[in-house]
Amino acid sequence: MRSAKLKVLAVITLAAAGLYSSMAVAADKLVLGFAQVGAESEWRTANTESIKSSAKEAGVDLKFSDAQQKQENQIKAIRSYIAQKVDVIAFSPVVESGWEPVLREAKAAKIPVILTDRAVKVSDDSLYTAFIGSDFLEEGRRGGRWLQDKYKGQQGPINIAELQGTVGSAPAIDRRNGLLEIIKNDDRFKVIASQSGDFTRAGGKQVMEAFLKAYGKQINVVYSHNDDMAIGAIQAIEEAGLKPGKDIIIVSFDATKGAFQAMMAGKMNVSVECSPLLGPQLMDTAKLVAAGKSVPKRIVTKETVFPMETAAATFPSRKY
Ligand code: AHR
Repeated sequence: MRSAKLKVLAVITLAAAGLYSSMAVAADKLVLGFAQVGAESEWRTANTESIKSSAKEAGVDLKFSDAQQKQENQIKAIRSYIAQKVDVIAFSPVVESGWEPVLREAKAAKIPVILTDRAVKVSDDSLYTAFIGSDFLEEGRRGGRWLQDKYKGQQGPINIAELQGTVGSAPAIDRRNGLLEIIKNDDRFKVIASQSGDFTRAGGKQVMEAFLKAYGKQINVVYSHNDDMAIGAIQAIEEAGLKPGKDIIIVSFDATKGAFQAMMAGKMNVSVECSPLLGPQLMDTAKLVAAGKSVPKRIVTKETVFPMETAAATFPSRKY
């Protein structure tokens, strides 16, 4: 409502100035403030590119900020979008909790909020309008089921070293829980080490080096919450004189081109897909929301699992 009034005012003012045709078009654009997590991974780069290019294509005026993996930066960005009176705010929350105050501010300013990629934990669901993104718990289950299948008929112990994503983030929490849910009744599997590599390649390498020092050849499986950390871990495993994909089985998430290259080289065994291509859905949803139309509260991204055997055939059609 507020933005509609503003647009009418802009048109009248511009018409009076004789500038109507060229500038009314600009005044009509939906203004979307997007607060991104950062640029921590290949996935995130593809996600940012998807949001920027689809905003352009959809004629949306995108205000974009990069929080460098810090919640306080995202909160600052959201507050600045509220102050700028954008039409819609969207963000991919770096962690799950701590959002209630800023979401209340957006609600008080009557600016709808769309979550993309990651969820928030809030006591009141009306603080956001919609959540578009993957089912991370199901992704974790998919990784767990793939492992069970791989070790079908074999005896344990099967020792898992877990490279966790950002502490407190939805994908780190859910991918861990999904795995634990699947292996809880299969006592061959044991998670012997678990540490965060913050979803980065450098973090994955560093944590894997420490795991190898502490557990060496006892590690049978690396369960990495994303491809970047898995690629870092692969480097550490090779530097330790072991063969990733053979001596240590690598289970990862995202299914980026980097993961496909590692799978084709026989160094990664499986990557569970998590699609970053959320831009088009976000633009459609933002337009509907701004027009006062109702949208589904939860939009789940469709995804699959890519074992290494399928990598070469699928690689040419990968988009990220
Ligand atoms: O929230 C999605 C996760 O965040 C991706 O798995 C990871 O690569 C990214 O950094």
